[in-house]
Amino acid sequence: MKMIKTSLAMVTVFAMGLSTSALATGDAEKGQEIAAGVCAGCHGVDGNSIIPSFPSLAGQHSEYLLKQLMEFKADENGTAVRNNAAMTPMVAELSKADMENLAAFYASQERAPGKVSDNNDLVAMGKILYHGGNIENGVPACASCHGPTGAGIPPRYPAVAGQHADYTLAQLDSFNTGERTNDSKVMQQVLIRMSGAEKRAVSAYIQGMR
Ligand code: HEC
Ligand code: HEC
Repeated sequence: MKMIKTSLAMVTVFAMGLSTSALATGDAEKGQEIAAGVCAGCHGVDGNSIIPSFPSLAGQHSEYLLKQLMEFKADENGTAVRNNAAMTPMVAELSKADMENLAAFYASQERAPGKVSDNNDLVAMGKILYHGGNIENGVPACASCHGPTGAGIPPRYPAVAGQHADYTLAQLDSFNTGERTNDSKVMQQVLIRMSGAEKRAVSAYIQGMR
């Protein structure tokens, strides 16, 4: 009996290893338990948030998710690398293993397609910028780091496709003002020359990407 149980467990681990080979070492099932109890209210049961100011996490790379969770966590002096009043208390009690499990869970979920904006001019401007940048003011193409479909390039570059425009715009603004600084100044350099209209346009385009 004991033998059978052990081999079943091994098969399960092996099967999970296959389906999640691209992910970090976390246990998605354990992550789901924490997510259902603590995170679902804001980020949705499956990581697709329905509130535009709360980011969707479904389908995001586990490496990026883990990095964010670790950086939201304050050290003994109360200093965090990424500061947010909603997220700081959420990660305070999480261990590194909890964070790995949560990252594995959200990475295993599918991102629901975002709503395509009906402001065609705005979306068209965003599309040009996303794929080609702006030669005149030197804004680089977002696609070169976040990928042509917005799927991101793990481990460093997050997926952006389908994300709420409100959340995306808020992040662009906070990189721009230097409030969010966990990007090694990469995004800050991107945004230095970008106009407000360009930020709104690219955020609207990203929401409709799939
Ligand atoms: C009260 C609402 C709330 C709850 C509950 C909450 N979050 Fe968040 N979360 C937010 C907000 C708001 C942001 C955006 C922070 C910002 O603007 O920098 C965020 C951002 C994040 C991000 C960064 C996403 C990105 O694309 O960079 C991750 C990862 C995350 N949350 C994970 C979690 C996990 C895991 C839990 C449960 C342990 C959780 N959150 C619980 C509100 C919440
Ligand atoms: C040279 C590479 C590079 C380019 C070009 C670039 N990005 Fe980024 N971007 C990054 C990196 C790296 C991060 C992750 C920072 C971190 O680890 O927290 C990021 C993060 C982001 C985020 C935050 C995602 C989240 O879930 O919170 C958004 C939104 C974003 N980029 C949008 C854009 C847009 C729009 C453009 C084009 C105007 C762009 N990026 C161009 C490298 C790049």
